Amino acid sequence: MSHCVFEGVGVKKEYDEGQVQALRGADFRIDEGEFVAVVGPSGCGKSTLLQLLGALDRPDGGTLHYRGASLPELPDLAAYRAREIGFIFQAFHLLPTFTAIENVQIPMFETNRSVAERKQRAAELLEAVGLGQRLHHFPAKLSGGERQRVAIARSLANGSSVLLADEPTGNLDSENARLVMDLIVRLRAERAITLVLVTHDLGIARQASRVIEMKDGRIVSDQLNAPAHPIST
Ligand SMILES: Nc1ncnc2c1ncn2[C@@H]1O[C@H](COP(=O)(O)OP(=O)(O)O)[C@@H](O)[C@H]1O
Ligand SMILES: [Mg+2]
Repeated sequence: MSHCVFEGVGVKKEYDEGQVQALRGADFRIDEGEFVAVVGPSGCGKSTLLQLLGALDRPDGGTLHYRGASLPELPDLAAYRAREIGFIFQAFHLLPTFTAIENVQIPMFETNRSVAERKQRAAELLEAVGLGQRLHHFPAKLSGGERQRVAIARSLANGSSVLLADEPTGNLDSENARLVMDLIVRLRAERAITLVLVTHDLGIARQASRVIEMKDGRIVSDQLNAPAHPIST
């Protein structure tokens, strides 16, 4: 039996007092360890869906569960965001006045790790994303690809089992986009992370185990991908 991480039934989200219907009743279930790509045209509700999963916003209708508990009704949503979920955004969202190693420690402020533990873990994570030589650099001194790798290290800070990535390669050139995707795919496999990744890039979507296609606030297709490397018989 696979364990259900997210289950949405009739999930709705409106903006501007109902003038914009960003989600018009989405039904989905995402299980432990899946790599789900969410695709669809600009404005179809992909980022809205991810924001609801990450409790950055709350649904206006339907039900949304995380590991069997109603997500909007969790007693401590800040703790949920910090401990359960790692976020990666297109625009990196690093704090400019913090160094790389400080940025990676930010989610750990929600935990009771000691200062020394936080620093050591942040350094290890930056090593893991290939930035062991950039610990004390400020974001402005890093390339786009390096900034996104700092953001990836930050997303792993609390050992969350779920990663939500919104067009993580959208601001990168093709070489850095490939490096960043390879890194996300490798870390996901090593750490058995459930990954929900929004992308415009069908080449990236092909790497996922499953593709959810959205249109106009609705899920219009939800299909398993054939394994990238089928075992030959
Ligand atoms: N904060 C907001 N206020 C008003 N409308 C919004 C807001 N965020 C998104 N929308 C609208 O909701 C719809 C879905 O947006 P979004 O989820 O960002 O789509 P996607 O990520 O697929 O491009 C769009 O029509 C968008 O303009
Ligand atoms: Mg978006």
